[in-house]
Amino acid sequence: MTTPPYESRRDPHPAPRTPSEREAILAEPGFGVHFTDHMFLAEWTPDSGWRDARVVPYGPLSIDPATAVLHYAQEIFEGLKAYSHADGSVWLFRPEENAARLRRSAHRLALPELPDEWFLGSIRDLVTADRAWVPHGGETSLYLRPFMFASEVFLGVRPSKHVTYSVIASPAGAYFPGGVRPVSIWLSSDYSRAASGGTGAAKCGGNYAASLLPQQEAIDNGCAQVAFLDAEKHRWVEELGGMNLYFVQSDGSIVTPELTGSILEGITRDSILQIARDLGHEVVERRVSIDEWRDGTADGTITEVFACGTAAVVTPVGALKWDGGQAVAGDGEAGKVTMDVRSALVDLQYGRADDPHGWMRQV
Ligand code: PLP
Ligand code: COI
Repeated sequence: MTTPPYESRRDPHPAPRTPSEREAILAEPGFGVHFTDHMFLAEWTPDSGWRDARVVPYGPLSIDPATAVLHYAQEIFEGLKAYSHADGSVWLFRPEENAARLRRSAHRLALPELPDEWFLGSIRDLVTADRAWVPHGGETSLYLRPFMFASEVFLGVRPSKHVTYSVIASPAGAYFPGGVRPVSIWLSSDYSRAASGGTGAAKCGGNYAASLLPQQEAIDNGCAQVAFLDAEKHRWVEELGGMNLYFVQSDGSIVTPELTGSILEGITRDSILQIARDLGHEVVERRVSIDEWRDGTADGTITEVFACGTAAVVTPVGALKWDGGQAVAGDGEAGKVTMDVRSALVDLQYGRADDPHGWMRQV
């Protein structure tokens, strides 16, 4: 059966936290540690399509131990932010792109596609219910985490016939505790994130599970993130565990690894292609080898490296480290081009600059 037009209900409930408890959290939100008063839920079956869209009090889900997602990881998610502008209005950045990527991820993970109207409606309704949780000031935002998982109670290996879609929201400050300071990146020599024909371009939990051991290796070596190379030749730079990469060259041009099917198609990455051009840079998508990264930083052809993503925004990369060596771009500090791109992006997201490409959506 086809999914009906989007319509949601809100279950009434007493406010779980007092305004002063909420304000204390919003004053120091951290990243991914506090959650709002509500969450969104909807379910899908082959017979009914998507149904029962509702905003309910935030709380635990009851999961049968035989629920398919716990065994075969049929799960996908998204990440986007709601930004408070100076006049108190609340805005989303390119949410249609998240809706489209969730559909692509669903296709790859054999999950049912969620109509964009449902995705955008779920985000709007949750943000509206938890509007008081959108932080103001600094670079704070309300991080939104839509996710979808196989909720059928069944141990056979086939696509689930019961699927749950949910959105939770978390007030957020900087992803990296140091704020906008260069981070060190660990080069994973033993592990790959995604192979050709695999799930690298999908935003599925399994990709992150596979990245956790190398991520721990990065942390053990004093680094904040891990850089992955292509799985076949172990030569081409792909991305970090949760961010895409950009390289600034001495001639002012900017390079980002081209999309190969095993790289996540970041919405920040795509926006920076445009923003950097607007700032007058030549921007090139092409393969970047690990030798180019190492040699380019040594001989000065690469002057800056930065990582980008919804959570990380634009984060300067200081050193690339590996067993027995390191390569530092420029003087290891945040570079001018990185910070110019960063300012242009956040000024737009926080409503301090014009929106020439029509990317912002008011809630
Ligand atoms: N690459 C990976 C593996 C990610 O998890 C993310 C974060 O979402 C990104 C890149 C950046 O994507 P976006 O800019 O859409 O947040
Ligand atoms: C995001 O940026 O939204 C992500 O999903 C990445 C993760 C590291 C938090």
